[in-house]
Amino acid sequence: MTEEKQSLEERAHNRTQRPQSDAFRSFIGEDWGARPAGPQRSAAADYLPARHFKLGSQFRGERLVFPAGDLQVRSNDTDYRFRAHSAFAHLTGLGGEDEPGAVLVLEPLPAGNETPEVTHEAVLYFHPRASRSSEEFYADSRHGEFWVGARLSAHEMSTLTGLNVAHIDTLRDALAKDLGEVQIRVIPEADAQIESLVEELRQENGLTTDASEINAQLAEAASELRLIKDEYEIAEMQKAVDVTASGFDEIVASFPRARTHWRGERVIEGAFFAKAREEGNGLGYDTIAAAGNHANTLHWIKNDGPLQDGTLMLIDAGAEVDSLYTADITRTLPVSGKFSDTQRLVYEAVLEACDYALDVASQPGVRFRDIHAAAMTVIARHLHEWGILPVSPEESLLPENQQHRRWMPHGTSHHLGLDVHDCAQAKRELYQDALLEEGMVFTIEPGLYFREDDLKVPEEFRGIGVRIEDDIVITKNGAVRISENIPRTVEEIENWMARLAQ
Ligand code: GLY
Ligand code: MN
Ligand code: MN
Repeated sequence: MTEEKQSLEERAHNRTQRPQSDAFRSFIGEDWGARPAGPQRSAAADYLPARHFKLGSQFRGERLVFPAGDLQVRSNDTDYRFRAHSAFAHLTGLGGEDEPGAVLVLEPLPAGNETPEVTHEAVLYFHPRASRSSEEFYADSRHGEFWVGARLSAHEMSTLTGLNVAHIDTLRDALAKDLGEVQIRVIPEADAQIESLVEELRQENGLTTDASEINAQLAEAASELRLIKDEYEIAEMQKAVDVTASGFDEIVASFPRARTHWRGERVIEGAFFAKAREEGNGLGYDTIAAAGNHANTLHWIKNDGPLQDGTLMLIDAGAEVDSLYTADITRTLPVSGKFSDTQRLVYEAVLEACDYALDVASQPGVRFRDIHAAAMTVIARHLHEWGILPVSPEESLLPENQQHRRWMPHGTSHHLGLDVHDCAQAKRELYQDALLEEGMVFTIEPGLYFREDDLKVPEEFRGIGVRIEDDIVITKNGAVRISENIPRTVEEIENWMARLAQ
């Protein structure tokens, strides 16, 4: 007798014994109580029409597709926690772990139906919850209520977002409608399946323009749309910074345990993560917890080292709140609570660079790139004073030289928001070369990094890495440091540690 061959996919069911009887199916669908009230309209909902219009008016008459993205396998049948693509989050106001597999479509209004403020109709395609008499209810580990909780109904999703909604199963037909007469663009690299669906429909309908080029233009516009934050976004940024501030208090309070733990960096990382999860959605990026010379590895996220007395500890961490806006803060703290003379010298040079960059950012007529240039003048001057820079600061600052960048190799500022490096697809003239404008949110984060094997610096500097990073909003009164409440001067930090790291 030959055994029937099972596909690998089917074998995943070998570990389960699901009841198949009609008796069970009808029994499990019976006698469930009333559902609780659904969600209220989200605080973001009122801001969506203006965002849709600002974007839509650049693509009149075109169908615009914004996938949330889908679940990603971590291993076997275990997925990473879901986090929506930032363009989707920005245009739907959805946050948390909403809404894997969903797609927002900005559907062009027929010519003549446009108004001065509306160019497109926004429709959110998603998978609403099924009834309790469906097999999905108990048997679908991806969508079923028994597995992932009660998903929103179409009506509830519409109440929450203020958007029109439709079942995801109708997406294909909706995307195909009048294609050829209507142009279609999709945000690239958000959801491979949706991207291929759009490509397939384009081909079927004779749309021969270069898809990668027209999709890149949509990504660019969606990214540029976030360069100026509205008041809701700025309030969310402040929340993210406030959660991050309490996370940094937890970090400082965890120092006594971290100093005695064989992987003290992990103790610090864990202390921050706990707060970020308790008060927000989680982290905007992996925490850098870098003791001593590890601070000189800019993206040190291994965090497996011990803390040694007499060294510095650099922590770069940001809480992402439920709306998915993230803070991005760095503090550099002396492990034993007090800075040594050399550590203090380096620290205060970096602090001066931060303060000068903030002053410059407050002045009218300043371009984004001027912030970095300002910080670099301070860094180069100090390196020269310490006898480290082999040329004068003026010579080093010339574009054809830049020797000082050996000790400060990264940029001083980047936009911040839903992505930690927000607006990353914006054109250079709207980013580095742009004038600062009210509503911009960005970091100021100079540093100095003296690697322990750097023979160009005196021995007492080796192994010291310092970065100070704050989050800034441009208001009508100039640049405001919204992370003001997180201690940053030498005195504030030593007092903070004396108070909490006991
Ligand atoms: N935490 C990443 C950055 O500071 O840009
Ligand atoms: Mn940063
Ligand atoms: Mn950072």
